[in-house]
Amino acid sequence: MASGIDVRVLDDAATIAQEAAGLFAALLRDCPAAVLGLATGSTPELTYAEMGRLHRDEGLSFAQARAFNLDEYLGLDGDHDQSFRYFMQKHLFDHIDIRPWNTFIFDGTARDPQAECEAFEAKIRAVGGVDLWLLGLGGNGHIAFNEPGSASDSRSRVVTPHPETVAANSRHFADPSEVPAQGLSVGVGTIMDGRKIVLIATGAHKAEAVARAVQGPRTPACPASLLQDHAACTFMLDRAAARGLSA
Ligand code: F6R
Repeated sequence: MASGIDVRVLDDAATIAQEAAGLFAALLRDCPAAVLGLATGSTPELTYAEMGRLHRDEGLSFAQARAFNLDEYLGLDGDHDQSFRYFMQKHLFDHIDIRPWNTFIFDGTARDPQAECEAFEAKIRAVGGVDLWLLGLGGNGHIAFNEPGSASDSRSRVVTPHPETVAANSRHFADPSEVPAQGLSVGVGTIMDGRKIVLIATGAHKAEAVARAVQGPRTPACPASLLQDHAACTFMLDRAAARGLSA
């Protein structure tokens, strides 16, 4: 079966941000109480800036929206400046009218992390599932903290990021030894349950993972390749990230 991923190669990161934010805007205009699935990382920063601009300049409202994030570091409080909660406040939530009680991110300090994961899955089910997930892509093919080896039906759980991921994320920490060794992450199955998925990737350092995800075999060895089985998954790429794709 051919890859089910719809690939769009766009001019640059700014255009990707406009298009990706535009998908969320269209969803919210159609369905103001939509359930948004959100990522952290460098790639979505411009998309969140564009969502903030759409709110400020074009009246896009998030007032009824619900938002679920993919992952969080285990052990970090939401006030920690490297927590994904902090990132979301800084890059998106503080710039739009989403209600704080409608933003759902794993509590990295939960006393019982596995119970926290189960409660997170239950909350997603309770709101009727995620309408649109925004994903980034790890250089090793990870999505959220679903590292190589993650099963297609995996659910929210405690995970141990791959050393490559820890090394990549250490750029945000003053001291690399401070990067938490574990995280809480939705599973591949949790992502696959979303009604639509848009994955954004830019730069030559993502090209190999993009090629494996889109044109490689569907395998847990490259978790993003499992997205080939989703009925409505789009990759938005710049030319550098798309350069490993064959016609
Ligand atoms: C973070 C997440 C990760 C990132 C990936 C790429 O919530 O889901 O899978 O999307 O590590 O990160 P950047 O965008 O920093 O290259």
